[in-house]
Amino acid sequence: MEEVSSIKTLPVKTGSVRAGEIFSSRLGVLTATLGSAVGLGNIWRFPYLTGSNGGAAFLIIYLICTVLVGIQVMVGEQMLGRAGKGNAIAALRALAPGKAWWLVGAAGVISAFLIMGFYSEVAGWVFAYIFKSLSGSILSTDPQVTTQAFTSLIANPTQSLVWQWIVLAVTGGILLFGVTKGIERTTKTLMPVLFLLLILVGIRSLTLPGAAQGLTYLFKPDFSVITADTFLEALGLSFFKLSVGMGCMMTYGSYFRSDQNIPTTATRVALADLMVSLMAGIAIFPAVFAFGFKPESGPSLLFITIPAVFASMPLGNVFMVAFFVLTAIASIGAMLSLLEVIVTFFNQQLGLNRKLSVVLTAAALAVFGSAAALSNSTLANVKILGLTFFDLYDYMSSNVLMPLGGLLISVFIGWIWGYPNIRKALSNEGMLKNERVIGMFFGLIKFVTPALIVIVLLNKLNIL
Ligand code: PFF
Repeated sequence: MEEVSSIKTLPVKTGSVRAGEIFSSRLGVLTATLGSAVGLGNIWRFPYLTGSNGGAAFLIIYLICTVLVGIQVMVGEQMLGRAGKGNAIAALRALAPGKAWWLVGAAGVISAFLIMGFYSEVAGWVFAYIFKSLSGSILSTDPQVTTQAFTSLIANPTQSLVWQWIVLAVTGGILLFGVTKGIERTTKTLMPVLFLLLILVGIRSLTLPGAAQGLTYLFKPDFSVITADTFLEALGLSFFKLSVGMGCMMTYGSYFRSDQNIPTTATRVALADLMVSLMAGIAIFPAVFAFGFKPESGPSLLFITIPAVFASMPLGNVFMVAFFVLTAIASIGAMLSLLEVIVTFFNQQLGLNRKLSVVLTAAALAVFGSAAALSNSTLANVKILGLTFFDLYDYMSSNVLMPLGGLLISVFIGWIWGYPNIRKALSNEGMLKNERVIGMFFGLIKFVTPALIVIVLLNKLNIL
């Protein structure tokens, strides 16, 4: 009881968050957060990484990273965002006044730029493929034809840029409606559609003769291919898939209501996100094997193999449209949250109004992202650290900035902010009786989460 009466100073109430900038219902919180987590990471990245890194062996490592690191950082970020009532920079400034912790939030804005730089391009390809599958122009059972179709899209600078701008215009347009009417309403409408389409394509794939081979590829553990790199890959994927380590979940946390149960929300989101990833793998691999294709061990799986697979089945064009529409939907929810990190930077740090912030964000990304969009054409030979802009943006965000951000956030929570604050924030000022959950979270975020991130990073640098 003492705790409860002494927490008045802790700003976990949402009352003073500006009107309109709040998720209006618990369902809205769930769909928006899940919308951020589910994205190209689930459909484009998870299946090929799992398939080519030892199937279930990779899955086990990925699950360990998600339970011990990803979910904990998600809980931590949402908690800090709600308590600090603002995006990552504002929240960390409010919770650690006069200290340099807000720099973690600033790094998050840089991560958002890096991720959106290449993400908006891949989303652009997905958008383009919806139209191409509608017109039937990519429907061929010959992988050489589908390779040619993909190559001519990405090697064409004008098409690459235009599709990226279309993506930025669509997502920016949604954000102009604000948090409740833009993000919340869109994700509430689109997430059920995504699940339905995924189930539809999954059933089609699973009922094809020879589907079992695909399941074996995805789930049969092969520990012989596991290396130190695999751990970094799994950790990076966990950060990327759960949208953590870069302040995105802090920004969303600042829109949470004061009665939202954060540990439960984060766990549900992580579970649902995992389910979508597995469903995507189940929708893809059985079909790939059923028609005798090789599971390309790379991103081209989605744009080269998949069209050929769909072309091989009856009513394939219908399923292909469904598949690319669901992928586009997934990417939109994720991009709304990525853009929101930058929008709130202009809005909360630079004091610009929200609409102007959205326009500036989209414009800045059109410029920054063009280097990634042109990575397969005009700028193909420009390399930094041996990587094209596209690969550099990807590598720096997933494998460097997000794990480092996650490390600093967990250190801040466990060692600086401390148990009493955590307890007040996660119990919703004593309203929830979740002492044990909080105790477990505290133990993990203070010791286990940072230790695991450090081990993986040192291992990667060959120091361990
Ligand atoms: N979680 C998204 C995906 O899996 O595609 C990507 C992402 C969204 C990463 C938002 C980071 C972020 F802040």
